[in-house]
Amino acid sequence: MKVLLVFGTRPEAIKMCPLILELKKHKEIECKVCLTGQHREMLRQVMDAFEIQEDYNLDIMREHQTLTTITTDVLIGIGDILEQEKPDIVLVHGDTTTSFAAALAAFYRQIPVGHVEAGLRTGNIYSPFPEEMNRLLTGRLATYHFAPTKRNEENLQRENVVNHVYVTGNTVMDAFKTTVTSEYEFHDSCLKEVDYKNKRVITVTAHRRENLGIPLQNICYAIKRLAEEYTDIEFVYPVHLNPVVRETAYAILENIPRVKLVEPLDVLDMHNLLARSYMVMTDSGGLQEEAPFLGKPVLVMRTETERPEAVDAGTVKVVGVDQEKIYCTAKLLLDESDEYLKMAHAVSPYGDGHASERIVNILEKISMNRE
Ligand code: UD1
Ligand code: UDP
Repeated sequence: MKVLLVFGTRPEAIKMCPLILELKKHKEIECKVCLTGQHREMLRQVMDAFEIQEDYNLDIMREHQTLTTITTDVLIGIGDILEQEKPDIVLVHGDTTTSFAAALAAFYRQIPVGHVEAGLRTGNIYSPFPEEMNRLLTGRLATYHFAPTKRNEENLQRENVVNHVYVTGNTVMDAFKTTVTSEYEFHDSCLKEVDYKNKRVITVTAHRRENLGIPLQNICYAIKRLAEEYTDIEFVYPVHLNPVVRETAYAILENIPRVKLVEPLDVLDMHNLLARSYMVMTDSGGLQEEAPFLGKPVLVMRTETERPEAVDAGTVKVVGVDQEKIYCTAKLLLDESDEYLKMAHAVSPYGDGHASERIVNILEKISMNRE
């Protein structure tokens, strides 16, 4: 069986690399990797961390790229590679525009698609935008669905997607188990300077398209107020390379005492930073899965989430994008130890670290049934 994995952004890479490493253990499966290059530097960081060399890179990234250019560049670019490689199956991940366009390109050639991290839903096609629709459409195009949780499987069932749905756990947990170590030394020079013993470190990230503009400004102003008020905390905010994000973050938070704006971190630094944090404030999808595993409370600065499992487990709160609400909820966790402890328990609703093995076992069975 020849498997072609196609991905293009940082989170897809973090979640596909463990699967590639597992596939490479199986000599009967030929595994090829095509990067779309929707991201450039942030994608390279992950490939380097996992020491994986891609077979192809479409290198499509442009500054201020649009959803249309990403879609068309991927759709056109992937075609030649599909013609050349003629894979038996194309694996895509999650909800990015890369994933949707690559799945569509495979569908046009009647090559079956396997969707890793299938079935997450908010139910609102504009939030997250365009990811909810990307994931839905990728699900329609896919033949095989690797759902992280039972709830994700149920979401698919509600849409009458009932064949070839497998609950596997999330591959992010596979990566995660090996990245955090107690003696870890940070690569990033700014992270080396943080006083992890005496300060309560709060990790912040924000990048979502629907948060660009006023919501991101609200997020930054809430952080500024908290940093000015509490002398025993330190914000570490690795700023996404999107110029729109950088403009807002630097305009409001540069040179604010107790706020460290740093460059995107490699995944080893990032996971170890999480492990040493007091809590996490984010609009990221992946961080909502990772921080609960470490028992770190997460405030999700979005209006809804496609990952309700950790909300139900009590470690994640969806606080929205109103400055006052973000500020007050963070303050509660800083002032009230009971409130903090209620959220700071380790839960792992997204998997046990064996998702990649399960996916590869399923691929082997699919291969045998096709022979
Ligand atoms: C993309 C995904 C989003 C995912 C996020 C992870 C889509 C529509 N969005 O959003 O689902 O959560 O990645 O981070 O698929 N840039 C660089 N270097 C990089 C990466 C980005 O300079 O390595 C800059 C470029 O100017 C680029 C801009 O960031 O145009 C935006 O990148 P894009 O992939 O369009 O959007 P993200 O917000 O990263
Ligand atoms: N991450 C990272 N370095 C950073 C910020 C995030 O390695 O500076 C990791 C994070 O641990 C998680 C993933 O990137 O695994 C999340 O990516 P992002 O927030 O960009 O996208 P999302 O998950 O929201 O799609």
